[in-house]
This record gives sequence, C-alpha cells and structure tokens, in this order.
Amino acid sequence: MRRITLSRYLIEEQREKGKINADLRLLIEVVARACKSIAIAIGKGGLGGEGGILGEAGSDNVQGEAQKKLDVLSNEIFLEANEWGGHLAGMASEEMELPHAIPNRYPQGEYLLLFDPLDGSSNIDINVSVGTIFSVLRCTEGDDPTQANAFLQAGTRQVAAGYAVYGPTTLFVLTVGDGVVCFTLDRELGSFVLTQENIQIPHDTKEFAINMSNMRFWEPPMQRYVNDLLSGKEGPRGKDFNMRWVASMVVDVHRILTRGGVFMYPLDSKIAAQGGKLRLLYEANPMAFIVEQAGGAASTGHCNIMDIQPSGLHQRIPVILGSKNEVALAVAHHLKD
Ligand code: AHG
Ligand code: MN
Ligand code: MN
Repeated sequence: MRRITLSRYLIEEQREKGKINADLRLLIEVVARACKSIAIAIGKGGLGGEGGILGEAGSDNVQGEAQKKLDVLSNEIFLEANEWGGHLAGMASEEMELPHAIPNRYPQGEYLLLFDPLDGSSNIDINVSVGTIFSVLRCTEGDDPTQANAFLQAGTRQVAAGYAVYGPTTLFVLTVGDGVVCFTLDRELGSFVLTQENIQIPHDTKEFAINMSNMRFWEPPMQRYVNDLLSGKEGPRGKDFNMRWVASMVVDVHRILTRGGVFMYPLDSKIAAQGGKLRLLYEANPMAFIVEQAGGAASTGHCNIMDIQPSGLHQRIPVILGSKNEVALAVAHHLKD
C-alpha cells in the first residue's frame, strides 16, 4: 500500500498542484509536530512532569476561564515550535490576551497563526478526547502583526485550517482550500499518514449535537428548531433524531465529518452579553472552513460564519454547522423570526 505522509502530501500540494508555497508547507509541518508533542503530553496523563499534567494551572485566561495545566502547556508548545522557523509574522491564541510577537532574533514570514491549543479542557481530567484547532491567515501589507488588528480578517481569507484530535488515535485534519484530508499518527514511525481523502459530509442527517441543559435560555427560533427534532416521527420532520454531545468541539465536529450531523452552540440569555460561547477566530472560522470544504455549511443563524468581519481577537459568536440541508433548516427558523 502506498503510504502518503503529511510531508509528502504537502510537497505534492506545493509542487504538483501549486496550492501552497514552501513557507505554508513548513508552517503546517511545524503545527503538526507541535500537535504530536501535545499528544505525547496527553498520553502521559497523571504520569507526566512533576505532579502530572492533569488538573488546574491555578490561573485564569483573558476570558476569565480557569486554565488547566494542559491549556498552558499546549500553548507553550505551540509558541515554542512556531516562533523560530521564519514562516510567521505573528501568533494569537485563546490563552493569550494579546498577539505573541515573533522575537527579533528570528526572521519574520508572511503568515499569521491563530489557535485554540487545547479544545475541550473540561474533558482532560476524565480521560475523554480533546483537540487543538488552528487557522492560518496572511498578514496584510502594512499591518502590524503584534497588534490584534492584523488578525481581524474574515474567515473567507483563511489560507489553511485544521485540527488535531487526541483520542484513541491521534488524527490531524487539514484543509488548504483543496478539500479536506485526514492523517492518522503512526506512533511507531512518529509520522502522520494519510488515511482519508476528499472527506464529504452527508447533506442530510438524523443526528444533532447541542448542550440541551441550556434549552430554556435559548432564543425562540432555536427552541422551536430543536423541538421539531425532538418531536421525531410524529413531528413536522417526520423522522427520529439521535443526540450526541462530547463537549469537545473538535470531537463533535470530527463525528460530523465522519457521518454527518449538525453541531450547535447557540446564543443563550446567560451568555448574551458576550455574543456566544465559541470564539470566532480560532474555533468557529477554522471549523467553518473545514466543514464548507467538506460540502457542509456553517452559519450563526443569520449569516455565514466566514463572512463576519471580526471586531475583536477573542470575539464570540453563535455557531450552527454541519450537514448542509440540516443547517439550512435551522437557519430557516431564524429567518422566520
Ligand atoms: P475550550 O476547552 O477551548 O474552552 O472549548 C470548550 C468549548 C467547546 O470545545 C465545546 O463544544 C464547548 O466549549 C462545551 O461547552 P459546555 O461545557 O457549555 O457544553
Ligand atoms: Mn475550544
Ligand atoms: Mn481551549
């Protein structure tokens, strides 16, 4: 069997298809290497480092969320791996209030890297799958990559996006705007090997993902839509739906990439002031890019996620993404209102 490693895939995207250049290839390879380091740290669990890598870091991030040790460690792994290669102009992360400037002693490149170093933090301590999400933009000429403004670009301007899943196997899912591919970490060789090409999300589904405990706080259109799903065969949809909620966005989205479904984190009255739960630049946009590249759709309920002009580095938005026809039905409920 022909084994295509991530390196080979990227070289072919560069040399034969002209989809990426050498710097973007290096960037993606470095990101994948950082994900391998995170996978190794996670695999050690309570055995890793002094006192293990599980539990609280004892600090809060800019969004007021308690950081886990692994949030902090994964962020450090990403910064350290990416700052010296010469491919980046700057980096921004869920775990840092401001962009991370590339130290002067290293050359600067043209790309901006945004990431959620550890997605699904609440699952770390209970040994449930977590992930990493990343998005790549080009730094606009004249913009200062040490300032948040440089990163405030619509999702349509992403040049690459991807995520790693740290589960029973470690996966690396990627788009460079040429469809979606999935690599599996070969632990003996230490390399990511292509295991799925041209991933396509089925347009229809009978599975939805949402945190139902918030139902009474949602806006009426979302309540009506989910009520239709819950009514099953006897309701307006005429079919029964199944529900899944892992509470790691990466894993819920990966399930949708594998067998279809709709993932939702809508606005609710508890989080109305902050605009939603999920962050636009390093959670919603990269996932929207991947999902659209796989034939799915991603909306806030009112507009396509990737069309939003961001107003802040840590801006949050409502998210509805996955199987195209199901997303359209959820959106239709919002338009009626
Ligand atoms: P993070 O761990 O990066 O803060 O993200 C957690 C997110 C997302 O992964 C998940 O879908 C959602 O929060 C879960 O939220 P609830 O705990 O409210 O269900
Ligand atoms: Mn997250
Ligand atoms: Mn996170």
